[in-house]
Amino acid sequence: MAGTGVFKACLDGDVYKYYADGDWKMSSSGKTVSVTNPTTGKPIYKVTACTQDEINKVFQSAKAAQKLWAKTPLYKRAEMLHKVSVIMKEHKAPLADCLVKEVAKPAKDAVTEVVRSGDLIDYTAEEGIRIMSEGKFLVSDPFPGNERNKLCLSSKVPLGVILAIPPFNYPINLSVSKIGPALITGNSVVIKPPTQGAVSTIHMMHCFHLAGFPKGLISCVTIKVSELGDFLTTHPAVNCISFTGGCDTGIAISKKANMIPLQMELGGKDTMLVLDDADVESAAVNIMKGGFAFSGQRCTAVKVVLAMESIADALVSKVNAKVAKLSVGPPENDCDIVPVVSESSANFIEGLVMDAKQKGAKLCQEWKREGNLIWPLLIDHVKPDMRIAWEEPFGPVIPVLRIKTAEEGINHCNSSRYGLQGCVFTKDVNKAMLVSDAMETGTVQINAAPARGPDHFPFQGIRDSGIGSQGVTNSINMMTKIKTTVINLPQPSYTMA
Ligand code: G3H
Repeated sequence: MAGTGVFKACLDGDVYKYYADGDWKMSSSGKTVSVTNPTTGKPIYKVTACTQDEINKVFQSAKAAQKLWAKTPLYKRAEMLHKVSVIMKEHKAPLADCLVKEVAKPAKDAVTEVVRSGDLIDYTAEEGIRIMSEGKFLVSDPFPGNERNKLCLSSKVPLGVILAIPPFNYPINLSVSKIGPALITGNSVVIKPPTQGAVSTIHMMHCFHLAGFPKGLISCVTIKVSELGDFLTTHPAVNCISFTGGCDTGIAISKKANMIPLQMELGGKDTMLVLDDADVESAAVNIMKGGFAFSGQRCTAVKVVLAMESIADALVSKVNAKVAKLSVGPPENDCDIVPVVSESSANFIEGLVMDAKQKGAKLCQEWKREGNLIWPLLIDHVKPDMRIAWEEPFGPVIPVLRIKTAEEGINHCNSSRYGLQGCVFTKDVNKAMLVSDAMETGTVQINAAPARGPDHFPFQGIRDSGIGSQGVTNSINMMTKIKTTVINLPQPSYTMA
């Protein structure tokens, strides 16, 4: 299904092209980057690898196109985005097919990602209309020493060229969460797809192409990251980087960035704190949904459970009973647990599990792995000296630490290098609010697992989890800057009798 019908335009033979100046093109490099199917472990797609010259041209066009786009009436910009949403939903089957093959997303979840992305674009267009149509009016005389002769008008204007770098786990949704706010606010966009997820991103980009955006306004460059990653992220034409992905990569980008606004979401070690008065069944259900969905490959997945000793046995036994019912297998069969994205990721997860096992943790299920497919695992009696107490597995493996007090749990959460989301399970609203106040994370969920959505909610991490805030409104705000015009009136002003 991928690369067929209208999407044939993105292909040359078996190589996917890059998108520049309103057209799909083959790079003159003659080089390609290979995309592996996580389920089979075999190469499935090839994408062209752009050269420095091609990237320079893309940025040149992006700069020129942005100037005209910023002058395009806001209602027309919104209309075009709504058009993309319709096209994307119309073509949800081939888009979802790419997600299944490239990142092993379960078939139904893949369709959900496409539909959610269309909805996100629609909401962004509407929110953009509201935010961008408003400004502020100030007069000078409240400030000491001033007469009422200066009138200040301020409004939001675009930043220029936005470089968008989405991650493998949501190559469509986390692309449009960057492209939508960028375009509605009058910016141009250059997108660098993740290697696993490149073809999904290319299909998503073709939906923008079909909607008929001006040439050069949006581009999609596929590169060999080891060769041109730094060249792209430090390019002088870039006015803002919106990056979602690995912590170390994000930090490296931020250290080299050219004094430009950065929006970064770099993962988490999302804590679930289960207090002694919690609804244990509900906590168990949320560990399953929050920890094992997409095999734990979500930055908002439950990545460590801190359970009060009084309820820990009951919680672990409920979760174990539910783990036994999970289906494990290929994404095409819509299995609950699917292969993780790469062999190196599976090796990393195995390393964390073996470290915990050697140091005395209890594996509640047998450790089982076939290729990139890892069977779901709950690890009980994890201690703070084990790597899995702190590191992010990004796999279907959940550690449980037993704690004596809520303070101990909060302290563990706040000692993490990450601070994306946390959650607390308790029936006492006062305790919930006290925990929320004390947990140093971007969001605290009360009686539910961490999650980014709905997509208009603010979404942000602290410490190594990121910079800036996302969610539709926050992204619109961060991809704009304030421009003021001051009207200086002649003195004296009219006085009325
Ligand atoms: O992986 C990072 C995503 O932002 C998480 O989104 O909570 O909708 O799965 P989600």
